[in-house]
Amino acid sequence: MRINIAIDGPSAAGKSTIAKKCAKLLGYSHLDTGAMYRCVAYKAKKEGIDWNDEEKLAEMIKNMKIDFDKNGNVYLDHEDVSQKIRTNDISMGASSVSRHLKVRECLVELQQQIAKNKGYILDGRDIGTVVLKDAELKIYLVASASARAERRIKEYIEKGIDFDRDEIIKDIERRDYQDMHREHSPLKKAEDAIEIDSSDLTIDEVVSKIKNELDRLGVVYD
Ligand code: DC
Repeated sequence: MRINIAIDGPSAAGKSTIAKKCAKLLGYSHLDTGAMYRCVAYKAKKEGIDWNDEEKLAEMIKNMKIDFDKNGNVYLDHEDVSQKIRTNDISMGASSVSRHLKVRECLVELQQQIAKNKGYILDGRDIGTVVLKDAELKIYLVASASARAERRIKEYIEKGIDFDRDEIIKDIERRDYQDMHREHSPLKKAEDAIEIDSSDLTIDEVVSKIKNELDRLGVVYD
């Protein structure tokens, strides 16, 4: 039996890392829906479209192509933008463009099309509540703001990227607020989601908790 899995939660809670690990375990495909909102913000910036201009953004999306390869690289209109969409500026931009209903409607439809044959793990903010309301397994992955900031900092050090600790914490808090308080599909836990707090857990410990849920559902994996 192939199922769909929804993983939602605030930024930097480890959703993508966990989703990738679970996809490998199950032989499923992973769709990083945040990357799609990031592509919208990136392309808008390149074309001089205001992140607040809902009409122009919706028009722009009709002519944009987003693809993923097996390694999780992201292609926007055939250009590899995997790294370019991960800057702080584009993170805030993605959060801004995601407030608009018309932007959400376009991307949600695409996400539902992709996942319709099951065997998908989608991570984002509204997967369990909107995109895959009927997902067989829903995880709500949280972590304290300080734990999330520490992880971001570690990642920046590893990649040799300059950072400002206070800015990182402020960005996480600002994005949490914006994503949780917007009018359309704000980040919230689906009623039937299982909450996992990863603040004091390793990646493997989180995966092990998810394995327990897969066992409960009778899903077979290696
Ligand atoms: O997961 P992420 O940090 O890459 O997401 C970037 C932004 O996109 C996030 O701040 C809110 C938005 N987003 C959303 O509204 N719905 C999703 N399903 C995924 C992301």
